[in-house]
Amino acid sequence: MTAATSFHTGSTSVSGVIRSPETDIKSPIARPVLEWTPEIERETAAIYARVKHVIPSVEWPFHAPYIAAINRLKKERNAVILAHNYQTPEIFHGVADIVGDSLQLARKATEVDADIIVQCGVHFMAETSKLLNPEKMILIPDSKAGCSLAASITGADVRLLKQRYPGVPVVTYVNSSADVKAETDICCTSSNAVQVVESLGVDRVIFLPDEYLGKYVATKTKVKLILWKGHCEVHERFTGEELRAYREADPTIEIIAHPECPPDVLAEADFTGSTAHMIDWVKTGAHKRVLMVTECSMASNVAAEAPHVDFIRPCNLCPHMKRITLPKILDSLLTLSEEVVIDPAIADRARASVERMIALGR
Ligand code: 13P
Ligand code: SF4
Repeated sequence: MTAATSFHTGSTSVSGVIRSPETDIKSPIARPVLEWTPEIERETAAIYARVKHVIPSVEWPFHAPYIAAINRLKKERNAVILAHNYQTPEIFHGVADIVGDSLQLARKATEVDADIIVQCGVHFMAETSKLLNPEKMILIPDSKAGCSLAASITGADVRLLKQRYPGVPVVTYVNSSADVKAETDICCTSSNAVQVVESLGVDRVIFLPDEYLGKYVATKTKVKLILWKGHCEVHERFTGEELRAYREADPTIEIIAHPECPPDVLAEADFTGSTAHMIDWVKTGAHKRVLMVTECSMASNVAAEAPHVDFIRPCNLCPHMKRITLPKILDSLLTLSEEVVIDPAIADRARASVERMIALGR
């Protein structure tokens, strides 16, 4: 696998966050007036230039006032925005300071020099940031942004599995609750799952909760995996049959897929990797027509940076990722809600499982 690289969106960079010492980051801030004016058009022109291939010009007057207001508010609050690759282009390119896959966001969360992190992604990602930054305020613009994988298993389920397979280490995908992470020996992401499994030096692990990611990992290692039947509700909808139909219509297309897809889908893929690995693959090769088998917004975000590639998007939306919107981000920064809190009874053990993964450096 290639090394994952994150890229900044060009809005306020982390090191560019300015904190005025006389301003209390928690003081009330008046709700800004949100109007499309020539000044806002000028202020957001450079951002629009980046996304003009994926956001129609008639839509920009609705996004731009929010983008300008959020970027100002971040400075007043000494906040940074971490956004997952599945966030919509106006968030990804408009207001995010750091973008990436789950592993990159977790790593970057440990390096952020700000008082507040606004996590534009789903709840388990915000929990991971909180675990790694217990002293910081972590906000999620909509705490109902869940994940079908995280919802598929509880800490009690993991305790039962450990009773059934005594002494077998537990590797858990970060797409899980803090409660489950607390019962875990080491976490993994789709970027490093094979390396994490092999790092334990054992011949058998309990691998939770993504059955399909586990099946994919099993094709890459001799370690035996005991699997759970959790699935991503977005990636499980793709089928090998639909990909074969695309290929029949155009045999020149290249297919790239996320390892949360079922095995018959991955069997059709020319490349399989995490969202960051897929982005690297698109940006570093000479590709003409690419069928991206993952969440819809990803292709839009990459398309904005790789206009020479023609993307075919079978397109399944993650309803949880789509709960995060510019108006909710603005509200989150204004009202400092919703703050992520982790039960102290589980926080230390959950943190240890994430830190073990980060310490592997992969
Ligand atoms: P990545 O870590 O590859 O970004 O995946 C996270 C996710 O939720 C994919 O559905
Ligand atoms: Fe969870 Fe799937 Fe949405 Fe990713 S795409 S957050 S795995 S439901």
